[in-house]
Amino acid sequence: MTTGPSPRVLPADRGIAEAASVLRTGGLVAFPTETVYGLGANALDARAAARIFEAKARPSFDPLITHLADATELEKLVGAVPAAVAALAERFWPGPLTLIVDRPAAIPPIVTSGLATMAVRVPDNAYARALIAEAGVPVAAPSANRFGQLSPTRAEHVVRGLGAAVDVVLDGGPTRCGIESTIVDARGGQPVVLRLGALPVEALEEAAGPVTVRPGSSGRPVAPGTLAAHYAPRTPLRLVSGGEPPAADGVRRGFLAFRDRPAGDWAVVEVLSADGDLTEAAARLFDALHELDATGVGEILVEPVPEVGVGRAINDRLRRAAATWHPAG
Ligand code: TXA
Ligand code: MG
Repeated sequence: MTTGPSPRVLPADRGIAEAASVLRTGGLVAFPTETVYGLGANALDARAAARIFEAKARPSFDPLITHLADATELEKLVGAVPAAVAALAERFWPGPLTLIVDRPAAIPPIVTSGLATMAVRVPDNAYARALIAEAGVPVAAPSANRFGQLSPTRAEHVVRGLGAAVDVVLDGGPTRCGIESTIVDARGGQPVVLRLGALPVEALEEAAGPVTVRPGSSGRPVAPGTLAAHYAPRTPLRLVSGGEPPAADGVRRGFLAFRDRPAGDWAVVEVLSADGDLTEAAARLFDALHELDATGVGEILVEPVPEVGVGRAINDRLRRAAATWHPAG
């Protein structure tokens, strides 16, 4: 997995000042947010941002999310924003909601992959916000994994996936939500969801009325978290409806279940939430996939979760992870 030497791992409660200074001097810092770990760089520094694309082997057409320490920083960075955008920021920040705004001149085009718009959020994680505040700059950060692979929910996942391509990993323990933020474009008034995520559509609707859900609807990837094949483990992954016992063909198979252990002789089983709690399931999703991936099974079977609340975002990730699977022969 890791190809080179290891990055410096600092405990989040003692490493903020050092990590902030690495950010200020153009380095890469992986840090915890409430969703997943981010791979951060100074968003005002084009060369630092370029290092993110290199470290992740991320295509240059895939824009980054800019992270702020505090909602009051938004206006300072981009000026006035449309009323519907301001209302959502007011209601949900800090939190797992990314909003689309016009890119300000201070942010170099590489951060937004040349788009005239910028994705921005205030993470609901005390270490993340302290880091950004201490750095004194907005922080561009995609999820801290190599492009197309599983998002990291623990510092170990970052170390394993990126190795010394990152300068410092701030270890703040496992992330609370476990899946990425919901991305919303509300510039036109009615919110349009560009990526399903940790903030459920129902919560947006309650705050802002009807919303449109349009992940990955266009040919050009507006939000590549919406590319058909994404969030994939190395092991082939297949979605099943449940109940099906493993085929007796000598292949060791793992099963990722929502709440009930499946019948049959599986090499390994991970249960997302024995209580059937979708929030817990989301928090465990990538962790469970990382674990199954590490067991060396030949195939991972997974059943979808109920299509409500954050369950929609979980199923969205599962479908994209399964999209890389091709039957042998
Ligand atoms: O929870 C999260 O959002 C995590 C943490 C670290 O904050 N970040 C994250 O970043 O998931 P990343 O790079 O894995 O996904 C960012 C998504 C990409 O799919 C990107 O295309 C989309 O945000 N995005 C960025 N700027 C955009 C823009 N101007 N318009 C539409 N989509 C944009
Ligand atoms: Mg990502």
